[in-house]
Amino acid sequence: MKDVRVGICGLGTVGGGTFNVLNRNASLIEGRAGCTIRIGRVASRRQNDRIELGDIPFSNDIFDVVNDPDIDVVVELIGGYDVARELVLAAIENGKHVVTANKALIAVHGNEIFEAAEKKGVIVAYEAGVAGGIPVIKAIREGLVANRIDWIAGIINGTGNFILTEMNAGREFSDVLKQAQELGYAEADPTFDVEGIDAAHKLTILASAGFGVPLQFERAYTEGISKVTPYDIKHAEMLGYRIKHLGIARRREGGIELRVHPTLVPKELLIAQVDGVLNAVLVDGDAVGQTMYYGAGAGDEATASAVIADIVDVARAVSHGSTQRVPYLGFEPSALEDLPVLPVEDIYSAYYLRMQAEDHPGVLAKISSVLSEHGINIESVVQKESELSNGKIPVIMLTHTVQERQMNQAIAELEALADIDGPVVRIRAENFS
Ligand SMILES: NC(=O)c1ccc[n+]([C@@H]2O[C@H](COP(=O)([O-])OP(=O)(O)OC[C@H]3O[C@@H](n4cnc5c(N)ncnc54)[C@H](OP(=O)(O)O)[C@@H]3O)[C@@H](O)[C@H]2O)c1
Repeated sequence: MKDVRVGICGLGTVGGGTFNVLNRNASLIEGRAGCTIRIGRVASRRQNDRIELGDIPFSNDIFDVVNDPDIDVVVELIGGYDVARELVLAAIENGKHVVTANKALIAVHGNEIFEAAEKKGVIVAYEAGVAGGIPVIKAIREGLVANRIDWIAGIINGTGNFILTEMNAGREFSDVLKQAQELGYAEADPTFDVEGIDAAHKLTILASAGFGVPLQFERAYTEGISKVTPYDIKHAEMLGYRIKHLGIARRREGGIELRVHPTLVPKELLIAQVDGVLNAVLVDGDAVGQTMYYGAGAGDEATASAVIADIVDVARAVSHGSTQRVPYLGFEPSALEDLPVLPVEDIYSAYYLRMQAEDHPGVLAKISSVLSEHGINIESVVQKESELSNGKIPVIMLTHTVQERQMNQAIAELEALADIDGPVVRIRAENFS
């Protein structure tokens, strides 16, 4: 049986997990792969106490892995954009296959990396970059190959979902974020998680693999969860909705929607019940209908599960002397469609609105008239008489679907009314019907 030699770059959380699972399950992985997979070299800035290196060569220079002529597959688990890009392009140049868990790298530099790999005839695999241990890339590119995929929506950042789940019990954002950092769910600098950048990286990849369009991370609309309040969570609940931080990609005439933002979702939907650090991705295919993929979106061994699935795919190809695999974005490069990402003003959504209004007759009629002038229908209204203060009361409404551009104009006009005090809070809503 041929040996396929793997070199791991980065021995942190995922690198350590990958090393340990590859060793622990070596014989069953070998039985499935039809070849022996050996770790031939490991490199990282420092050793990881959780792994037993044995006689496997270790160095601090990750480029030692890329330059080792005995390594067939470079597993990039260092994270970040620049050094990872340099490392991966060097690996490709040296004729090595690449497995990575780095969504930032693929979302931002994927087009360049795939082109280089195509030219060199090597494989680049990135399952672990999206939703950690959930094999959603494989599901989209292979399991759903018969379908025209019209939209994908997901909870694809566990830290954000943990924070919103705890806020659902009435806790404040800053308090839960502190706890998430203590538990190791959030980084010391939580920007990527709470401002939606990490989710936008993953959504960019999902959209490209689902619709067959080039990666366009720079055009994704990204809004985080730091402005969501327990007050809005409570009132969304009263209206029958839960607030989730979703990535939503939708294929439309002439372009795609690519957006990450807090979203009201009917609470009886399965995706509304995905709590804590777990992830879930909903995919709508024209033949299969809606399917949902749920599980651990992060963690050392959960992510290693996806990294190793890719290693096995590559190892099978290498050991059979072929590098034919599913195309990077699920479609042959010549079949990719040049669909642009539409500006956020072009999206269609329902909306939750909250405003402070003067408590006197006729105010509701004025609000309704502004909305109606922009073609916006109201589904439900709550006026919180019990919260009357200084002559003002909160008015909360849920609208039907409308184009965001119309909603922006309506909100600007509402905010200009003398009867409305301060900004109008707006959260998008989806029912996925
Ligand atoms: N953690 C998860 O659950 C998870 C899930 C899905 C995907 N991912 C992705 O997997 C990748 C790895 O994440 P991780 O959580 O395992 O990160 P991590 O724990 O920080 O591990 C990265 C390791 O690489 C080392 N490293 C970074 N740059 C290096 C360099 N230039 N030279 C040598 N060593 C270097 C780091 O050393 P130092 O510690 O000394 O910096 C660290 O040991 C990232 O792309 C991440 O987005 C992670």
